[in-house]
Amino acid sequence: MAASTQSSRLVVGAQYERAMSASASDRRARSAFQDLALSIAAPGAALFDFGAGTGIDACVYAERGFTVGAYDVDPPMRRYFAIRCRGHINAGRITLDSGSYSQFLARNAVNGGRRVELVTSNFAPLNLIADLTALFEKFHALTLPGGKVLVSVLNPYFIGDLKYGWWWRNVVRLWRVGHFSVAGAQAPIFRRRLADFARKSAPYFQLTSAFPGSPRGRGQAASGIEVTRGARYAGLRLATCRFMFLLFDRRDIDRPDGSDHGAAGASSISSTNNACSRAKRARR
Ligand SMILES: C[S@@+](CC[C@H](N)C(=O)[O-])C[C@H]1O[C@@H](n2cnc3c(N)ncnc32)[C@H](O)[C@@H]1O
Repeated sequence: MAASTQSSRLVVGAQYERAMSASASDRRARSAFQDLALSIAAPGAALFDFGAGTGIDACVYAERGFTVGAYDVDPPMRRYFAIRCRGHINAGRITLDSGSYSQFLARNAVNGGRRVELVTSNFAPLNLIADLTALFEKFHALTLPGGKVLVSVLNPYFIGDLKYGWWWRNVVRLWRVGHFSVAGAQAPIFRRRLADFARKSAPYFQLTSAFPGSPRGRGQAASGIEVTRGARYAGLRLATCRFMFLLFDRRDIDRPDGSDHGAAGASSISSTNNACSRAKRARR
């Protein structure tokens, strides 16, 4: 990533967009992610872009006929997003949530209370999140039954990172604990094994596939590695890719009356309790 994940200075707005379009490999990774998202979402579906930055992807999805909700924690990014996507926002094709991350997690009416088919998150916002289980709980509340989450995350086994001391200092922790973090400009940057993503999301989603984040050319169909039964060596198989794209399927833990698992009632008490105890285990 040309932008902020490893630098000591946070790059935002127009400067961020210049940095992101400077490298051919970043442009290819973005195209590949957008192509995959567009192939997963049904025509005209509602999407939500988490960590949307300046709105590069949100605009592409809106231009393709999707309705897009978005959120980014960073106010300067949101200001640039509002300018870049002004036409789509005025036409009601894009909406942008604001506020702090804890407000985003606590808010009942994220995306105006509208649930979506697909949550996307491109260029590694999830690597800036310490408590992934809480975020996947939010994604669960935000998605419709049958919904999916598609994220681009940093590959902890990327061979290009093996030249750095921080990678070698943390490799044992990566194997033992499943993740490690290094200091970043905006927040600590977490690198996680696929098994860690699977475990932390498990109360609410199932990790089903991992895709290479650096296909050789545009239009080349990226073939995913099926990881439903375990993700042991999939990350290693993608070692030449700085990014990997992970696809999660929403678990069906809704109440029979169709309302969300967030507000427990008698009819859902056992599935909700199961989800809660799975969530407690995942957070450890
Ligand atoms: C590398 S940028 C990617 C932006 C955009 N998805 C793209 O593809 O250009 C990472 C983004 O994640 C956002 N971010 C970091 N922590 C976040 C959080 N807790 N909640 C929402 N967004 C966050 C940052 O502000 C930044 O815009």
